[in-house]
Amino acid sequence: MLYLIGLGLSDVSDITVRGLDTVRKCKRVYLEAYTSILMAADQESLEKYYGREVILADRELVEGGSDDILAGAQTDDIAFLVVGDPLGATTHTDLILRARELNIPYNIIHNASVMNAVGACGLQLYNFGQTVSLVFFTDSWKPESFYDKVLENRQLGLHTLLLLDIKVKEQSIENMARGRLIYEPPRYMSIATAAQQMLEIEESRKEGAYGPETPCIGVSRLGAPTQAFRADTLEQLAEYDAGEPLHSLIILGNRVHDLETDFIAAFAPDQERLRKAIKDDAQNFKKPEPPIVNMYDD
Ligand SMILES: C[S@@+](CC[C@H](N)C(=O)[O-])C[C@H]1O[C@@H](n2cnc3c(N)ncnc32)[C@H](O)[C@@H]1O
Repeated sequence: MLYLIGLGLSDVSDITVRGLDTVRKCKRVYLEAYTSILMAADQESLEKYYGREVILADRELVEGGSDDILAGAQTDDIAFLVVGDPLGATTHTDLILRARELNIPYNIIHNASVMNAVGACGLQLYNFGQTVSLVFFTDSWKPESFYDKVLENRQLGLHTLLLLDIKVKEQSIENMARGRLIYEPPRYMSIATAAQQMLEIEESRKEGAYGPETPCIGVSRLGAPTQAFRADTLEQLAEYDAGEPLHSLIILGNRVHDLETDFIAAFAPDQERLRKAIKDDAQNFKKPEPPIVNMYDD
């Protein structure tokens, strides 16, 4: 059996009881180590807690060597550990599809994910639209596909959760060109970098999906004892030092419920500025016209 087990968000002990019992009986235990990090744990502390060897699974192994992970899983139990929920924002459906092809049964043991724990900021999960990812810009590569999704969400008055890039085990262009297997230190995008990149793209697109005054929430270290939220305008968050990773960013929709406003006001360094930004933003909300259906067209 292949078990996909969620580890939750922060501590070794965030694993569920069922998850832990399963890890302890599995023949091999892999830790998916490139889409998120368990903020207060590492391979060594996990091994100690489980009393089992933990094999780090990088992108290369998961995407190119899934048959190695699945080897023997027709008869043995194999655990594949994922930070957060195994299917929350990181979908390991490829691994499941390969297991199905090989007639390997699988079982998913869920846990908290950034996708639901973000509700702790006080915004209603019902009022979120499409989640988007933001990648690190380079001088020559500034992918902006996130912009259209934020625009669509904002046209519906919905909040947008932006998940921020993580770079682990990346090679510099020079090392790659020379075929040297030297990896750069891990990098985690900060709330400030995310806000700056967003402002840069609005500056070039000028379609008004959002602007410097748009109210946002910076989310840091969800689920950890140092969890923090910062409610302010996008422009202010571009200067905000949120500390240690992990970070996410929320662009508010432009029809924030009064209860949401009251809840998030506690996270604002300047409540008046936040309330004004929310009020001004609400003026921009125009209910989209229903599509015109011509009954006489075929
Ligand atoms: C690709 S998602 C992985 C989601 C994970 N499987 C889950 O269910 O939570 C990783 C991104 O989500 C965000 N994220 C994950 N955990 C977080 C946390 N505890 N606090 C803030 N942001 C977090 C960060 O932007 C991070 O780069």
